[in-house]
Amino acid sequence: MKTTITSTLKTLVIAGAIIGSTSLMADGGALYKKCASCHGQAGEKPALGKSKIIQNMSKDEITTAINGYKDGSYGGAMKGLMKGQVAKLSADDVASLSTYIAGLKK
Ligand code: HEC
Repeated sequence: MKTTITSTLKTLVIAGAIIGSTSLMADGGALYKKCASCHGQAGEKPALGKSKIIQNMSKDEITTAINGYKDGSYGGAMKGLMKGQVAKLSADDVASLSTYIAGLKK
C-alpha cells in the first residue's frame, strides 16, 4: 500500500513538472497571431506600407527591433505604434516570436 501511494505521488510530481515546463515556454505562433493583421500571415507584408518585410529579417534583427521598440531605441516614424504592440512581451515571448518569425520564410 505504502509503495502504491509513493509511486502515485511520483507520477503526479513528474506530470506536474512536464505541464509546468510546457506552460512556461511561450508559443511564438500563438503570439504572432496579433501581428499577422499588419505583417501578414507569413510576415510577407510591409505593415501599413511602412515596415520592412519581417520574414526577410534574421532572428537577431527581429529581437533587436522588438526590444528596441520596447525601450524606444529602434524604429521609424511609426515606432510608437509598435511599442504598443510589444510593450507587454516578456523576454521569453520576444525570443519565441523572433524564432517563429525568422522561420516563416519558405
Ligand atoms: C497595427 C499594425 C501592426 C501590428 C499589429 C504589428 N506591427 Fe510590427 N510594425 C508595424 C509598423 C507600421 C512598423 C514600422 C514602424 C516604424 O516606423 O519603425 C512595424 C515594424 C515592425 C518590425 C521592424 C521592421 C522594420 O521595418 O524595421 C518588427 C520586427 C515588427 N514590427 C514585429 C511585430 C510583431 C512581432 C508584432 C506582434 C507582436 C507586430 N509587429 C505587430 C505595424 C504593426
